[in-house]
Amino acid sequence: MVDFGSGSPAVFARIVYIDSANAYLLGTRDFSYAFAIDPAGGHLKHLYWGAAISPDDVITLAADPADWAMNTPDTIDMRKPGALWRGFESVPRAFTEEIIAQGGFRFDEPTIAVETADGRAGLILRFVKHVIHDHADHRQLTVALRDEFAGIGVELHYVVHDASSVLTRWIEITNDGGRPVHVTRAASASWALPASRPYSVRNFFGHVQGEFQIEDVPLVHGLRRLGSRTGTSGHRGTPWIAVHEGATEQAGEVWSFSLAYSGSWQISTQLSDDGGAHVVMGVSDEEMRCILAPGARLSTPRSLGAYSDIGFDKTTDIWHTHVREIITPRAHRPLPVMYNSWFALQFALDRVSLIEQAGRAAKIGAELFVIDDGWFIGRKDDLHGLGRWRPDPDIFPEGMDGFRRTLGDLGMQLGLWVEPEMCTPDSDVFREHPEWIHGSPGRFWQTHRHQFVLNLGLAEVRDWVVEQISRVVDESGCAYIVWDMNRPLPLGEAVRTTETTHADGLTQVLNVLRSKHPTVVWQACSGGGGRADLGILSSMEFTWVSDNTDAHDRANMIAGASHVLPMATLAHWVTDPQELNPVSDRLQQTASLATRFHASMNGVLGISADLRQWSDDQMAEAASLVTQYKGFRHLIADGRFHRLSLSCPGVAFAYVAPDRSEAVVIVIANPFGYGESNPRLRLRGLDPEERYVLGDLPAQSGRLLMQRGFVLDGTQTASWLLTLARSR
Ligand code: DGJ
Repeated sequence: MVDFGSGSPAVFARIVYIDSANAYLLGTRDFSYAFAIDPAGGHLKHLYWGAAISPDDVITLAADPADWAMNTPDTIDMRKPGALWRGFESVPRAFTEEIIAQGGFRFDEPTIAVETADGRAGLILRFVKHVIHDHADHRQLTVALRDEFAGIGVELHYVVHDASSVLTRWIEITNDGGRPVHVTRAASASWALPASRPYSVRNFFGHVQGEFQIEDVPLVHGLRRLGSRTGTSGHRGTPWIAVHEGATEQAGEVWSFSLAYSGSWQISTQLSDDGGAHVVMGVSDEEMRCILAPGARLSTPRSLGAYSDIGFDKTTDIWHTHVREIITPRAHRPLPVMYNSWFALQFALDRVSLIEQAGRAAKIGAELFVIDDGWFIGRKDDLHGLGRWRPDPDIFPEGMDGFRRTLGDLGMQLGLWVEPEMCTPDSDVFREHPEWIHGSPGRFWQTHRHQFVLNLGLAEVRDWVVEQISRVVDESGCAYIVWDMNRPLPLGEAVRTTETTHADGLTQVLNVLRSKHPTVVWQACSGGGGRADLGILSSMEFTWVSDNTDAHDRANMIAGASHVLPMATLAHWVTDPQELNPVSDRLQQTASLATRFHASMNGVLGISADLRQWSDDQMAEAASLVTQYKGFRHLIADGRFHRLSLSCPGVAFAYVAPDRSEAVVIVIANPFGYGESNPRLRLRGLDPEERYVLGDLPAQSGRLLMQRGFVLDGTQTASWLLTLARSR
């Protein structure tokens, strides 16, 4: 087996170069990934990705002639059996390569494609050198390839972290020739899967108010491309897919992928006739396309891959660990209980209403009071006001800082909503800098929700946004910012300036703001869940899944999002039933108050409701639910998450303490169909040898609770909140 060393047990990521085989072995105790340099042509052969293997195994794999020896990228050896016929297919097969450079006989979906001004489109990339860096908590391998003729260098980067079983990959392209080059495709990585069939794919689909719905489909022959072209990761789903062979939560191999990027993206899957499959993922072609000047360098976002040999449950744990340890390590604990003004007051903000809501929010236990859209000058509706980030003196005669002090007297901190990438046509910023807007006059210079998008690809726009939002934070003393984005970017005009996309520009802006205001907590939002992805979570602690707050819809969306996004990164609100709700006439929201709370407790609990309308009984019930949440929120934040199976339609989630001493289980179900009323639930993740106290039940072993399960008692409810503690 691989020698993982005898150092600290936490240190187990390794990258090894095996000289005798010209091969690389990367991995942790949980997985191995291997590839080799083809001695004949200097191309990179993919060898393996799966459960951990030894360097000897890699030597065996590197010597296997398979497809490569028969059909190298340079020649088709007609003496090999079947060569003539195989030569009509992509050569080499895409699933045997580390990078698929368009050109020659590579007919499969490429990783990279460039064109020169004289119309040549094709690259032949050959090995130049490699470097392995040993950092304190991760190892990095960089392999440099080059096309001598085109003057194009490509670096493939691989990172393995000690604290995570995700493999991180990306590429960088350099034009060191003398002429500009059109880059028409620059994906972050191609990922090869072992030849096998039938494969299935799990991915998300959806729309505004219908985000994160799960789709399971067979991987069919040919090419399937998922993605977003809106300039955000979008409502159709976060850039994540899983490829598997009929895996369940607890069994089967799963290869899953995500892109840490918050702009337009694409993930293509391709199944070949002989069962080989590969996945190509990166920024969408429209957003990546650019002219690379001589001497220029183009970098791609991180493409992440995870291998699980124990179904979707382990897959989820790998992603949650990676996000918690590597992507968003600035854990904000405890998770705040927040109130948000949007579903109560929308744009009708006035001081008296806000103070009334604040007083009642404090009574039920809110710790943070977020004033959503409408607090700044001119914002009485969505026609005006964006771009002028000054508090409306009619609403806040004592200034925002004065209002913050009023909240402080109630024991709450202030949060503010902003949408800094936007301006309305009546704003000074638009009048003074029309050249800052995406699109150009007469060419896709369109408003959407009555607003333009400021081009964060431009350094001066980034500086302006930093200045505006810094001032808002400094003058208000707010502790929390909700950063919204309520429209797509136009296609048709160049969406990237030199090497920076709008999404890259956003990351730069947020990094500066975070370093200027290190105590502020940031939450993403984009017309609901348009920016719930691993790109935005590298700059913000929390994100927003959807504006759909219906308890049952929300619970299903959480089940989808939970595959890759940890619960501690997701914010949810308890909202009012439809008749009291000014925001959406499409939400059903028929669930009881308790069920609405239970659904929203699967993350950062928020309330966005007109609390002035709540009866004393409702206020008391809400206060008791908030107190309950505060008692177990450490488990929501840092417990091991499991999706449980339930004997009726619905979802059930368990959050188990790392030492398995306690757990909380939340079930949102429709138990009344077909005359059923008492669904059965089996737990997961407990210590089988320990005994647990669950509600009024006599203590029983973790084994029984997991193997046999138990009946959820009650005919009147659609949700259950259960806490378990190890009995002493
Ligand atoms: C869209 C968001 O998803 C809502 O929650 C709210 O903040 C509105 N924008 C405000 O305009």
